[in-house]
Amino acid sequence: MPNVTIIGAQWGDEGKGKVVDWLASRADIVVRFQGGHNAGHTLVVGNQTYKLSLLPSGLVRGKLGIIGNGVVVDPFALLAEIGRVTAQGLKVTPETLRLADNAPLILPLHAALDSAREAARGDRRIGTTGRGIGPAYEDKVARRAIRVCDLAEPETLSAKLDELLLHHNTLLAGLGAPTFDKASLLASLLELAPAILPFAEPVWERLADAKRRGDRILFEGAQAVMLDVDHGTYPFVTSSNTVAGTAASGSGVGPDAVGRVLGIAKAYCTRVGSGPFPTELTDETGRLLGERGHEFGTVTGRRRRCGWFDAALVRQAVKVGGIDGLALTKLDVLDGFAELKIGVGYQIGGKVYKHLPAGVAAQAAAVPIYESLEGWGQSTRGARSWAQLPASAIKYIKRVEELVEAPVTLLSTSPERDDTILMQDPFSN
Ligand code: GDP
Ligand code: IMO
Ligand code: MG
Repeated sequence: MPNVTIIGAQWGDEGKGKVVDWLASRADIVVRFQGGHNAGHTLVVGNQTYKLSLLPSGLVRGKLGIIGNGVVVDPFALLAEIGRVTAQGLKVTPETLRLADNAPLILPLHAALDSAREAARGDRRIGTTGRGIGPAYEDKVARRAIRVCDLAEPETLSAKLDELLLHHNTLLAGLGAPTFDKASLLASLLELAPAILPFAEPVWERLADAKRRGDRILFEGAQAVMLDVDHGTYPFVTSSNTVAGTAASGSGVGPDAVGRVLGIAKAYCTRVGSGPFPTELTDETGRLLGERGHEFGTVTGRRRRCGWFDAALVRQAVKVGGIDGLALTKLDVLDGFAELKIGVGYQIGGKVYKHLPAGVAAQAAAVPIYESLEGWGQSTRGARSWAQLPASAIKYIKRVEELVEAPVTLLSTSPERDDTILMQDPFSN
């Protein structure tokens, strides 16, 4: 029985949380392997809505959740989120949640630096979530990060804080932002340590045991391929690798554990933050997509930019992300449009491209080449079987499959957990 890895195939917010929650009923363990609390995953179960950022979405099903070493963990945000979902009736204890002891921490100084740098960039800002994600990954690679395990060693923590503050206070002062005081930072970390440490362990060992037992593991990606620090629309990306291969390095398992890769894509396209978006619609159609799809960021509350489905982009995500099958979400948002368009390539400086080239200027200049399809008048909202779909919706899905060179194996037709159509179970052999 293969494991399953879920990743975003556009610029995030494709509905990964809903799909992970749905598939979690077939899994034993759900693992987060990259990103941090920049992620916002909304799950609707009956009359309850859960908004998760750091916690693996499988917790809502009572499945064991693991936060892997590839995640940057803000311990203050983690405790706050545990408090929020506990108030909603979920059980988050060291029996249901494990945290990699070698995961790097996000501290308040990372968020401060993130915001100060964005302010200094002015018009060239990336539009980050301001959560300190970029600065925290920089510290990890620079070998000065404070990690979960350091919370158990006050002397290590103190020495590491000296190094970290030397670096960050210099930068913050240079940017004209307030600096941080070691004594209060150290005191706040030592105070929260007893609440965090019971969750900490070498999660690779638990995952190795799970593999031996034949448990089914669901790896839950955050962000998406076009926000990948290598393969995305750099520099308008996040600071982690979001492709499926990261599930292995980000949790401490071998590449064979990644299993089947399900890419999640909306039936149209959205993006939060700055950066190229060739099929963006700034007209009435774009406004309508945003209104019908309730396109406001889970984390930032910012309006998401909306546009037509870009098959050239998703085809690229399929290839570099290692996607075997696609879950197409929010099909219902396209209900009622007389005509639909799909981007099939780009015109850039008089040349035709089948992919989005890497250059910043080329990406900014990319004009989409469209194919027109007939819309459908009928509602698909809440459809739970293929037979309930109008013929032109089926045609649309078939064309998407051809263009992105991957089968559509799952469909989502509303935010609600069970409004889902499964064509092929990714866990089946
Ligand atoms: P994620 O970051 O990929 O987990 O996605 P988000 O949760 O940030 O954003 C997706 C939004 O779309 C959430 O508000 C979901 O409740 C909602 N959603 C998911 N699937 C569907 C669907 O099929 N139809 C509609 N209308 N909404 C959906
Ligand atoms: P989920 O998991 C959508 C975007 C930000 C910004 C860029 C860099 O919910 O799909 P960062 O704070 O990561 O340094 O910001 O990435 N971004 C997301 N956009 N969904 C997300 O997560 C995102 N996480 C980061 O808007 O453009
Ligand atoms: Mg989201």
